[in-house]
Amino acid sequence: GGACMDRIRKDGLRVITSPDYPPYESTNEQNQIVGFDVDMVNAMAEEIGVKAEFTGQGFEGLIPSLVAGRADLIAAGLSITEERAKSVSFTDPYEKTKNVIVVGVDSDLNGPESLNGKTVGVQLGTVQADMAAEIEGADVRTFNLFSEALAALKSGQIDSMIVDAPVGNNYIKVHSDIKLAGEMDGASKALATQLECTDLVAELNAALATLQQNGELEKLHTKWFSDQAQ
Ligand code: ARG
Repeated sequence: GGACMDRIRKDGLRVITSPDYPPYESTNEQNQIVGFDVDMVNAMAEEIGVKAEFTGQGFEGLIPSLVAGRADLIAAGLSITEERAKSVSFTDPYEKTKNVIVVGVDSDLNGPESLNGKTVGVQLGTVQADMAAEIEGADVRTFNLFSEALAALKSGQIDSMIVDAPVGNNYIKVHSDIKLAGEMDGASKALATQLECTDLVAELNAALATLQQNGELEKLHTKWFSDQAQ
């Protein structure tokens, strides 16, 4: 038994994400949502024997949509926080990374202290928005999408941005006009379900363990996070 699996087995797994955060999730030329999170959730869904369906929306609305029952799962490079754990159930973590500061290639900024008096771009509702707010003297600019913050950085409208390290590493591979300028701590990432969907969490954790043991997760990691990956 359980609160959610019966419905999910019947109707499928409704997954929501904010597809502005490659290599975790982005949209390709065919406007399909692709990325590490998508491949990982599809592999888990296959283990569980259900079909996953992905829908994109703004990051800030993900938890409210889940809580309102408009989706079964958030897969969005989502960091585990105590605050979020009050309204969603997290699976076991699938990754832990640091955060990085990204600046223009000619900038002499380096490290969080250097952002005093400087503009810092982040996405609304993210842990990076909270981190930026903690930096002494930083002028925080929030954007609906991380891709908008990146565009603002590239056009010189903001001095810096903070993103998860794999995202920053991906940016500098694709964009030659920006560089990394220091690290900050980061939390573990997990998938999130509605609070009462503990049956779904148990299925996802079992599937995650399988993918960790059989090497599938490592393969996906190499596909999306290695130096060769786009
Ligand atoms: N890891 C950060 C957080 O949980 C940022 C995630 C942003 N994800 C995205 N798909 N835009 O707050």
